[in-house]
Amino acid sequence: MSDDQFKNVLSHAKEYGFVFPSSEIYDGLSAVYDYGPNGVELKRNIRDYWWHAMTRLHQNIVGLDAAIFMHPATWKASGHVDAFNDPLIDNKDSKKRYRADVLIEDYTEKLEQKVQKEIKKARKRFGDDFDEAQFVSTHPRVVKYRKQQKEILQRMVKSLENNDLADVKALIEELDIADPVSGSKNWTDVKQFNLMFGTKLGASAENATDLFLRPETAQGIFVNFLNVQKTMRLKIPFGIAQTGKAFRNEIVARQFIFRMREFEQMEMQFFVRPGTQMEWFEKWKEIRLKWHKSLGFGDEYYRFHDHEKLAHYADAATDIEFKFPFGFKELEGIHSRTDFDLSQHEKYSGKKMQYFDPEINERYTPYVIETSIGLDRMFLAVFSAALQDETLPDGSTRVVMKIPAILAPTKVAVLPLLKKDGLPEIARQIIDNLKWDFKVQYDEKDAIGRRYRRQDAVGTPYCVTVDHQTKDDDTVTVRDRDTMEQIRIPIAELQQHIAGKFDLRNWLNL
Ligand code: GAP
Repeated sequence: MSDDQFKNVLSHAKEYGFVFPSSEIYDGLSAVYDYGPNGVELKRNIRDYWWHAMTRLHQNIVGLDAAIFMHPATWKASGHVDAFNDPLIDNKDSKKRYRADVLIEDYTEKLEQKVQKEIKKARKRFGDDFDEAQFVSTHPRVVKYRKQQKEILQRMVKSLENNDLADVKALIEELDIADPVSGSKNWTDVKQFNLMFGTKLGASAENATDLFLRPETAQGIFVNFLNVQKTMRLKIPFGIAQTGKAFRNEIVARQFIFRMREFEQMEMQFFVRPGTQMEWFEKWKEIRLKWHKSLGFGDEYYRFHDHEKLAHYADAATDIEFKFPFGFKELEGIHSRTDFDLSQHEKYSGKKMQYFDPEINERYTPYVIETSIGLDRMFLAVFSAALQDETLPDGSTRVVMKIPAILAPTKVAVLPLLKKDGLPEIARQIIDNLKWDFKVQYDEKDAIGRRYRRQDAVGTPYCVTVDHQTKDDDTVTVRDRDTMEQIRIPIAELQQHIAGKFDLRNWLNL
């Protein structure tokens, strides 16, 4: 997808009531967005799809809804006060601010693009005989690019780990990296910048306590670990799932709802016996990838990206990356977080955070596998992959949102062919019957073809049309958004017919 196509995603999201810039009448607020009537339904459906998969389908995973405000010691214990930083660099000429690591990664990505170009050329030249593995390991230019990539990333990771920001700047200068906007190479030093938003609790300035808006939902789960385990009498392994808002003062907040300052996470912490974490890490990688694939966009949209630079608390980490309009980017993180968080909270609170395992008669601090996905980012993934300009067999075109039916904002549109002859009344009766089970919409304005197109553009998977034949034999047509085929069925069978399409068994039965 090109830049133009991404612009198309943005304008479609606004025009059809999915996403609006926040406080738009005041020119908006950077990297903050509001969800419109269609957006809020799509977002809720994604959240439910995740929630049902995590909690209903796993007897040993329970839910939680912790507060956004937490005791400030939480963030000291978790490491966010000291280490939740981005390395920033400013360009003195353009006055633009960048993440230093992103500038370097973008440079290595360009080397990778050169590699891909060579591969493409060679594939064309050698045809069926092309052996990609052999080519990339022997072709001198490709070997050189890959070696450079590796060396650059290794040096960057090492400098960041050692907090050697002078070397990060030196690397940017050695690579001759220019400001992508102005082309200038006049850089400031690299500085660390904490991403948490601060606020105050209390009425008077002297007595106010400094608080943070949570930058992840996970810590609400960790501090409640024993409350949940004891009240629900859970045995390890078990998980706690939560969805909710998180806040980060992102510096490079571009790409629409991909990187926001206020966003929503869907996180699950899975508590396991120490020593078994790698086995569970692999299991959760597989379970989560299957969840994504159950939506039917196709395997080519997903890939794993294992982390080279592990966070201080992790002993393994991978991202599920999605093919966004601007390339493969992180959609979900799966992390093996060891016993870091529980041990830290034990240390800072002075309260034991251990579990007695009756099976082995031992007390220990559990290890944790975390699955963490951004709800807004998932929204963008679904939205951008679903939006299509389709050319039909007769040469005409239509804009259609092929949103997986289970996630679609409106499930069924009920349309009387004409605004008269008693057809609207029948349509209203049908709605009164269906509205208990599905989000249904009535539309009688304009010719039927235009109404179908309107529903296509917001991703409604089924349109039920009431016509004159309905009056004779109590049947209606049901039009499928994707195939545009219509079938005629009795009104009496409509509810059951549609219910079958949204049965979770058919979606999540993996
Ligand atoms: N508890 C672990 C954690 O928060 P993370 O990789 O920082 O890990 C997890 O975030 C997920 O949250 C990401 O994969 C992404 O989907 C989403 N996310 C993170 N920052 C975001 C932002 N600024 N805007 C939208 N989504 C974001």
